[in-house]
Amino acid sequence: MIAYLNGQFLPLAEAKISVLDRGFVFGDGIYELVPVYSRKPFRLDEHLRRLQGSLDGIRLANPHGVAEWRERILKLIERQDFADQSVYIQVTRGTPAEGQPPRDHAFPQGVPPTVFMFAQPLVTATAGQKAAGVCAVTAPDNRWQRCNIKAISLLPNILLRQQAVDAGCAETVMLRDGFLSEGAASNIFVVKDGVLLAPPPSNLILTGITYDLVLELAAAHGMPHEVRAISEAEVRSAAELWMTSSTKEIMAIVKLDGVPVGAGVPGPLAQRMDALYQTFKHQVMRA
Ligand code: PDD
Repeated sequence: MIAYLNGQFLPLAEAKISVLDRGFVFGDGIYELVPVYSRKPFRLDEHLRRLQGSLDGIRLANPHGVAEWRERILKLIERQDFADQSVYIQVTRGTPAEGQPPRDHAFPQGVPPTVFMFAQPLVTATAGQKAAGVCAVTAPDNRWQRCNIKAISLLPNILLRQQAVDAGCAETVMLRDGFLSEGAASNIFVVKDGVLLAPPPSNLILTGITYDLVLELAAAHGMPHEVRAISEAEVRSAAELWMTSSTKEIMAIVKLDGVPVGAGVPGPLAQRMDALYQTFKHQVMRA
């Protein structure tokens, strides 16, 4: 696997940074994850726009313009020996220079950010997961108030996701103050009375690139949908529950905290949206 580090392409195992990098010491950085199908990045402009938003959120200047990012990402994709990829992009606040305090919470001045990227084979939902759906557990959303920033400091998300793994499930659905927020590493949709419901974008969720596309497709194809706060009671009585992300696409959650969701199998709207998503993806990839 070939990685990219601060302007250079090199084997992943040879990519090295200082232990004083603020990403390592403080988790002071942001990231993106871009799915790549047949060597074509999917929705790259949207990912780069969100990257800019995350950088703005942590007050770190973007080291590259959109054209520069695009060129570097395309080169990284070309250099891999597999075609379907998940490209990880990380930008941290860099390493303090000689003469600067090695560890100080305050931003170091005049330090270039660290830019690291690598690609791994894309692992989407398996055919089995698509056919049968997955289970999820719920947990209180105990993260901070700025979940719209795609921060590399993911400890709360990791601990939350592990609760699902420990229960043999795929995702943890988070509830904050009695309302649905999102999954530990995904957005969550609810179907109720034939209407697709999505929690509104806010500082309390990461608005997914997949989330946006699902709503675009619902609008384009006349699937009734509504973006509004969703109560815990509505989550627990949903006809369908979906998780969405760039790597997993659309996956039906068929059991929540051990209780079947709706009929306990992937519902008709999930199947329809997955078909719309796959068709859209193939059209974009052929263009
Ligand atoms: N995570 N919410 C959270 C907390 C996430 O971590 C993710 C994605 C999403 C969905 O966003 P998108 O549709 O843009 O992938 C929502 C990625 C896949 C990750 O951390 O690996």
